[in-house]
Amino acid sequence: MPVDFIKEDKTAVITLNRPEALNAFDPELSGAFSEALVNFMNDDSLWVGIITGAGNAFSAGADIAALLPAIKKNSDEQFKKAPNIMRGLSIWKPLIAAVNGAALGGGLELVLACDLRIATENAMFGFPEVTLGLVPGWGGTQRITRAVPSAIAAELLFLGRPISAARALQTGLVNRVVPRSDLMTAAKSMAAGLCRCAPLAVRVAKQAMVQGLDMPLEKGLDLEKSLNDYLVTTEDFNEGCAAHLEKRKPTFKER
Ligand code: HXC
Repeated sequence: MPVDFIKEDKTAVITLNRPEALNAFDPELSGAFSEALVNFMNDDSLWVGIITGAGNAFSAGADIAALLPAIKKNSDEQFKKAPNIMRGLSIWKPLIAAVNGAALGGGLELVLACDLRIATENAMFGFPEVTLGLVPGWGGTQRITRAVPSAIAAELLFLGRPISAARALQTGLVNRVVPRSDLMTAAKSMAAGLCRCAPLAVRVAKQAMVQGLDMPLEKGLDLEKSLNDYLVTTEDFNEGCAAHLEKRKPTFKER
């Protein structure tokens, strides 16, 4: 299977599983990844997703032999056939990238499409596309400038040289760097923290944050208000307030 999908309580662990090619996206992996994301999005019992890679790399991006030539023929086709979080699929449930090694090209674009990012000490992040004669075309040119300061974005985009995990942490590209052996424990602990919060509120926070980035402030404030007006009608809002006042842990029901 090119993608493993494992449910652990309220968390889905989605693993790119093509380690012999450093989890580079060929048509099979792209299709299976899209399917896994849609399953995650539509499964009400799942609140958080963790995306990671099998073996020693997160993902080396688009498969240069098996996918890039198809993109040359028809660049629209891939995301029509297999929409994903880089293009075509908006998922408001939170996603954690557990970056277990190199995240290059489309691999870094996938990291950028996740909300929270934990990396191993040996991870590296880069956009080698300019060395191939193209630019990151899975959202990389747009999302990198929203993730790091512009000089760092320009360095990554124009020079094609990767940066280390330590530099990624320093620039704010990732939340944490951990030893390889601690990666999944750290990612699951972050997922558990998310699962302790009201799930509809977390999704609204993501939606407001992501959609608000593309709006003038006044529009963003309107969006925030309408989403909060919805949240105050939910059972989980009543439960969260009641639990706080009664000095107990809340039990959220996603309603
Ligand atoms: C196809 C790939 C691949 C890729 C690695 N492999 N990256 N196959 N597409 N993107 C394969 C290698 O051919 C090799 O297979 C195996 O994975 C192991 O890779 P090695 O190069 O032997 O490993 P290593 O020496 O450790 O070097 C790791 C590496 C290097 C630095 C990550 O593999 C590399 O530079 N890969 C290319 C990364 C890249 O340019 N990504 C951007 C793609 S473009 P064999 O069979 O030989 O053992 C992109 C654009 C997206 O993502 C947007 C499009 C619109």
